[in-house]
Amino acid sequence: MSPAEMVRTGPLVLVNQFHPLEREPDAASLLPPDNRRPNILLEARAGTVLNRFLSDLGCTGEIVPVSGYRSRAEQEAIFSDSLRNSGEDFTRAYVALPGCSEHQTGLAIDLGENRPDLDFIRPQFPDTGVFRTFRRRASEYGFILRYPENKTAVTGIQFEPWHFRYVGWPHSRLMEEAGLVLEEYIRLLNDYPESGAHLHFHDRDRSFELYTVSQENLEALPKRLPGDTPCQWSGNNSGGVVVTIWRDVP
Ligand code: DAL
Ligand code: ZN
Repeated sequence: MSPAEMVRTGPLVLVNQFHPLEREPDAASLLPPDNRRPNILLEARAGTVLNRFLSDLGCTGEIVPVSGYRSRAEQEAIFSDSLRNSGEDFTRAYVALPGCSEHQTGLAIDLGENRPDLDFIRPQFPDTGVFRTFRRRASEYGFILRYPENKTAVTGIQFEPWHFRYVGWPHSRLMEEAGLVLEEYIRLLNDYPESGAHLHFHDRDRSFELYTVSQENLEALPKRLPGDTPCQWSGNNSGGVVVTIWRDVP
């Protein structure tokens, strides 16, 4: 994979009004997390983890997928329908510009309370009962609430209690603990370049080491990664790749 492709690939890609989607997900990697809703697709790993999470909470069928992967054409149709039906202020608050929606990555899912009058743009996701538990425990499963109430100035999107984004563990945990949205987390990790001090973090019986490699330094990155311990990389769609190294704490 070329350095440019690496930057556009992985669960940490940042997609917003300033960072448009640069790479469509592979069609084969998109699957329906809920077989009763075969048209709602999610990247396979994110969908598997979501199903496990809903099953662990015992709320499969109560919290349901409303919107997952969207092609650019679908996002265009949603944007123009919303403009026509709800006006510009509403649309810019709740619908990302076509090409700039993280639904186009296959890593974002809108979830809602299973009810006959489900709203497609703003599904009901109350802050009570199993919904509150889902929200509180999402980071354990690699999901984050992507558009929190107090971060609208950073995300450019209004509070969306129904929109969750898969970033993978331990990133979800770090973001939750530090109170960072994806824009802020990617910026933070940029302060830890490969050639400088790395970010170290402990959780449970593991320690993690994280750093960002800029696109111009990506050549031969796999050869520089440790071969004796689990290690992952993900593009950030912002000029770099985040490396995460796991170690067991004795
Ligand atoms: N509702 C989110 C912002 C989207 O349209 O991608
Ligand atoms: Zn959404």
